[in-house]
Amino acid sequence: MGPVKLDQRVEGMSISPTLAARVRSSSLVEEGQRVFRFGLGQSPFPVPEPLVAALRAAAAEKDYQPPGGLHELRRAVADHHRFRHGVAFAAEDIVIGPGSKELIFLLQLCFDGDILLPTPRWVSYVPQARLAGRQVVTLPGGGRDGLTLEPERLAELCQAAPGRRRLLFLNSPCNPTGLASTGEELEALAAVCREYQVVVLSDEIYAELRFSGRHRSLAQLYPEATIVVSGLSKWCGAGGWRLGTMALPHGLRVLRRALEAVASETFSSTSAPIQRAAVTAFKPQGEIEAYLVLVRRILAAALGWAAAELDGVGLEVPQPVAGFYLFPGFAPLRDALARLGIESDIDLSERLLAETSVVTVPGSAFGCDPRALRVRLALVDFDGAHALTGLANGPADLSFLQRYLTPTWNGILALARWSAQLAPTRATP
Ligand SMILES: Cc1ncc(COP(=O)(O)O)c(C=O)c1O
Repeated sequence: MGPVKLDQRVEGMSISPTLAARVRSSSLVEEGQRVFRFGLGQSPFPVPEPLVAALRAAAAEKDYQPPGGLHELRRAVADHHRFRHGVAFAAEDIVIGPGSKELIFLLQLCFDGDILLPTPRWVSYVPQARLAGRQVVTLPGGGRDGLTLEPERLAELCQAAPGRRRLLFLNSPCNPTGLASTGEELEALAAVCREYQVVVLSDEIYAELRFSGRHRSLAQLYPEATIVVSGLSKWCGAGGWRLGTMALPHGLRVLRRALEAVASETFSSTSAPIQRAAVTAFKPQGEIEAYLVLVRRILAAALGWAAAELDGVGLEVPQPVAGFYLFPGFAPLRDALARLGIESDIDLSERLLAETSVVTVPGSAFGCDPRALRVRLALVDFDGAHALTGLANGPADLSFLQRYLTPTWNGILALARWSAQLAPTRATP
């Protein structure tokens, strides 16, 4: 047999950088090295008990389900959007898939038009566009911290070629920055999208992890063409369950039917027991709400403390409002880093691993300029179940963080120390 030739859409593709970071840290751990695992954005918290019980009870479910998902779950997801976020979707507007990642890919496959991607952006959007054969148009970040989408930028782009079909990706709250669009930004964005008939994919996978508990969706202001994607991975700590949801406005039902058709020809349907258990997650429930209140308090305390620590040694750190991530910029230390031979975020990430044992993901994996020297930190290296128990007995103060989030605490201090010795005029923590 001759050598196998790969299709050009796949050639050169390797494992997604965030998953690769996990593989890398696991192999270092196997070699006996202690590392701080800030690479993969996996929730450290356990799946809430009512969901685990529901999954146990559904274990004998064995039949294929409709490609769009179990009706009861679609109903629960539609109600969730209505009651939690004030956005009206019907059960038939919802599609269930094995992870939101898969649903986003299917959408890129089905939608005929340009994909507009603000920078920074989640790692998988671009490789998926390539697989789907889509044209990507990048919108460089501006606004606050140079990391948010400016509606004027979008308007300029649309004005230049008004007739094109476009799908804009908006990820708010955002991975990697932890920032979320403000009400005013969403209003301005809705106006531009309406004027130029831009369809929006609003990736809201971190919505329930807003520290304030209050989330604003573009779908509230631009309901006719905002598709909302979410899932269980982040707020229910259930990444490995693989359950994602996509809500499409009724006017886009052609797209929704296409998604269901492609689903039926590829994965058939999402796991039946997982779907059955997921109904519990989307129904209003005191126990899950109480779990979320604690999770948000822990994340807010940890990220707030870590951001202040790194800011204190001279890094540029956007203030996160949700999720697990910090996206510090080392540009203020550029000269000192250059003297160490560190010119790009990849050099930086490697040096941080070698000298502080902290695993990071370079900002260029999210579309940033490598010379902007940003890295993403996922502050998830701690035992979430232990932390939840600890918080039940006291406040989320510094001694709580040090005691219950010890690896994360130590990893941030290691980074702060390393940075401080490069900027000797600032205080060493
Ligand atoms: C912004 C964003 N969207 C989508 C996903 C995919 O999540 P899942 O496929 O687990 O639902 C992730 C996971 O990291 C993410 O960070």
